[in-house]
Amino acid sequence: MSNKEIQDEINQLGPWFHNIHLPDGTQTFPDHFLGDFPTFKWRNIQNSIPADLSGWKVLDIGCNAGFYAIELAKRGAEVLAIDLDDHYLKQGRWVARQFGLENRITFKKMQVYDLAHIDEAFDMVWFMGVFYHLRYPMLALDIVSQKVKQLLVFQTLSIPGQEELTVPEDIPFNSREVMKAPGYPVMAFIEKSLMGDYTNWWAPSHQCVISMLRSCGFKVSSMPEDETYLCYKDKSLHTDFDTWNYSEYLSATGKDWQHTDNDKTKWK
Ligand SMILES: C[S@@+](CC[C@H](N)C(=O)[O-])C[C@H]1O[C@@H](n2cnc3c(N)ncnc32)[C@H](O)[C@@H]1O
Repeated sequence: MSNKEIQDEINQLGPWFHNIHLPDGTQTFPDHFLGDFPTFKWRNIQNSIPADLSGWKVLDIGCNAGFYAIELAKRGAEVLAIDLDDHYLKQGRWVARQFGLENRITFKKMQVYDLAHIDEAFDMVWFMGVFYHLRYPMLALDIVSQKVKQLLVFQTLSIPGQEELTVPEDIPFNSREVMKAPGYPVMAFIEKSLMGDYTNWWAPSHQCVISMLRSCGFKVSSMPEDETYLCYKDKSLHTDFDTWNYSEYLSATGKDWQHTDNDKTKWK
């Protein structure tokens, strides 16, 4: 295909959110309002990810036009890339063909919540740019945590600031003032819109991200990029599932909870 033909197809497939540098040098969205997005993010993250992902199964949630799926497949990973939007999935399939990676990436129309109904688990899960768009973010994180064998790369829009604190083991009823302390895990609800985008619902604080991830069994090992958390499964952590709400999870994901044995030790 000539450069002109490729450019024509890019135009037909637009509008784009990912600016992807195609093998022939053409770019899908060179005038991106954020700059060379997401290449400038990937540059900071890339060295924190194993260079050789041969044999790795990777899940890219909210893959959009497939920028990250492509980069991870280039390293040898077998990628399942999901998104709810046909428009972006079409872009992703086309981009994968341009790189000759269509056999290594499967694009599938799925909501993050649909992952509760597949058996597969993944060596690495890429969960960037989606969390704050969700009405049910904690449910999504609980679902995603069940799909990660090893490594989770998590990114969310957040409340500005990097304050952290040691979360109290218990908060007496009359000591709830602590919830107003700088660094206490909080999540801001965006009732109207943010940046003109009504699909932005939540912005957690930095400590809130760490705490939510910990509550799902993850230990943050580094932050290679702004608002981006590299996390590993830490089996020593007590997750929410160990404590009380397995049946709530089952109910929230449309599974039978009334006839399911609620023995928490059975599903670690
Ligand atoms: C801000 S873009 C982020 C794209 C990419 N992950 C990144 O970090 O550059 C959000 C993407 O998530 C998708 N998305 C939003 N809600 C979703 C959901 N509930 N399940 C799956 N994908 C979703 C959107 O269609 C869009 O492609």
